[in-house]
Amino acid sequence: MRRQALIGATAAVGAGVIGYATVIERNWFTLRHYDVPVLAPGTRPLRLLHISDAHLTPGRHRLMSWIRSLDALQPDLVVNTGDSIAHPDSVQPFLEALGPLLDRPGVFVYGSNDLYSPIPKNPARYLWRDSTLHPRRGEPDLPWAELGAGMEAAGWLDVNNKRGRIKAGDLDIEVAGVHDSHIGRDRYDEIARPADPAADLRLGVMHSPEPEMLDRFASDGYDLLLAGHTHGGQVCLPWHGPLVTNCGIDPARARGLHRHPADGSDDPGRPWLHVSAGLGTSPWAPFRLSCRPEASLLTLVPRSG
Ligand SMILES: [Fe+2]
Repeated sequence: MRRQALIGATAAVGAGVIGYATVIERNWFTLRHYDVPVLAPGTRPLRLLHISDAHLTPGRHRLMSWIRSLDALQPDLVVNTGDSIAHPDSVQPFLEALGPLLDRPGVFVYGSNDLYSPIPKNPARYLWRDSTLHPRRGEPDLPWAELGAGMEAAGWLDVNNKRGRIKAGDLDIEVAGVHDSHIGRDRYDEIARPADPAADLRLGVMHSPEPEMLDRFASDGYDLLLAGHTHGGQVCLPWHGPLVTNCGIDPARARGLHRHPADGSDDPGRPWLHVSAGLGTSPWAPFRLSCRPEASLLTLVPRSG
């Protein structure tokens, strides 16, 4: 009898945790704030909104309206590090969710999920193995080009294996980015050269924060690197953090603001790295635990001294 009660209690707790992670926390969006001392002394601060990994399906109205509300932050620059859609009909809803943010200066790269529709899989797989797409998936089946065209039509800069220049706030910003390393589409060689020391800021953008890409941006002199992809681990243990990052970066930097390299390098010129834990989840792993969906407002401020 006692054993049956124990089994019943365990099942009830398990169902409660799954329900919380799927229904409540997955829709419990939060805005993270960070100050990043990356500008020359005397420069006026810049408000940079970093969004990532919306994985939008057309029915996610709460997510869409929360993204739309972010315009009230009045960011000077918006950076989208990919995995924006998860359904063939999501392009227009995603662009409508961006809404007035599209009238602001913006930059984007793609993630693998902008190209390939999600496939059913054991949700627990997220916890124990890398989700690199199997090559047999072949040609992309999602309207990634339509998605990119929508953002470009608004004036956002496509930096998938490209470099560019953008004016935001008072700053003249050199931007370079790579397509998603997770599916082998990164082509750093096409953008490799030292970043312009005359720019007010040198910004590197990628979907997946692979150490090799981070190293290359760092050695080319970029000041700030932005990435997504990890979902912050998606399922985190209290007082421990993420179990997996789903890429090459260490779990301690699966989300938030850090430096690269992370070790005790005393090089004051090493770039800042912000990894977004993202706004969404795959429709086939629709839960977040101890890892709320997020966007981040980075206030870029002058370096001390
Ligand atoms: Fe993602």
